[in-house]
Amino acid sequence: MKVRPLSGALGAEITEVDLRTLDDAAFGAIRDVFLDRSVIVVRDQDLTPDDHIAFARRWGEININRFFKSTGTHREIATVLKEPDQERNIGGDWHTDHSYDQRPALGSILYAIETPPVGGDTLFCSMHSAYEALSPGMKAMLTGLRARHSSRVAFGTNQTGAETHKDGRLGNEAAATQDAVHPVVISHPETGRPALYTNLDFTLGFVGWTDEESKPLLDQIEALSTQPEHTCRVTWAPGSLGMWDNRAVMHRAINDYQGYRRLMHRITIEGCELPAHDG
Ligand code: SIN
Repeated sequence: MKVRPLSGALGAEITEVDLRTLDDAAFGAIRDVFLDRSVIVVRDQDLTPDDHIAFARRWGEININRFFKSTGTHREIATVLKEPDQERNIGGDWHTDHSYDQRPALGSILYAIETPPVGGDTLFCSMHSAYEALSPGMKAMLTGLRARHSSRVAFGTNQTGAETHKDGRLGNEAAATQDAVHPVVISHPETGRPALYTNLDFTLGFVGWTDEESKPLLDQIEALSTQPEHTCRVTWAPGSLGMWDNRAVMHRAINDYQGYRRLMHRITIEGCELPAHDG
């Protein structure tokens, strides 16, 4: 197995491995790379949906998605699809999957089925690296805060429309009822490394602040976190499997392949409550 870093801050490309036949030692090695680099992309796989599910189960329990259509044959796998005639894509803004859950997802595993000839990459930013780059004063202020997250804005009634139904969304606004409070600076549950934990898709505001008061600081956290030195970029090809640590990164799917189809299969792994970083 070969491992190549994708950028200074995060990400690793893994080659010369077959995820269908991993023994425990090889799986442990991949897990170590994942915890260290927060994003992995494993190239040249030939996975059936059952292989994808079997790999996912090695990480934990699978979350059955409430907002995206499944493949129709495997309820564990959500489809992330953009058809040639669609303008919007899924995940086109910086976000953290499932931050609205009280026990947010550990990670998401995306397997590329059909990719455009060029474009359709995914950007990731390290919320560890972003936190570490803050001034001592900003770190101290954010470490005392908690934030309110919700699925209502992104998945609620205002999102029901023709375009959202085509892109694989269930249009299931009745299921958009999750609200959660998390520390703004978390301690990664497995490594203890501090990370910023807000995102503009699902974070409404800070506890004890109005949404309007919160917005400028949430915007500033996003602007600081997505600076180029905190990011890496994954280019997909059919057979690429990417996995990211939702406790450590935000991600954004780039929507630059109009007129082409892009189909990905996504499995999300359940996580745990997020502890506060204590400074
Ligand atoms: C997502 O899970 O936000 C979609 C990511 C992607 O399609 O690259």
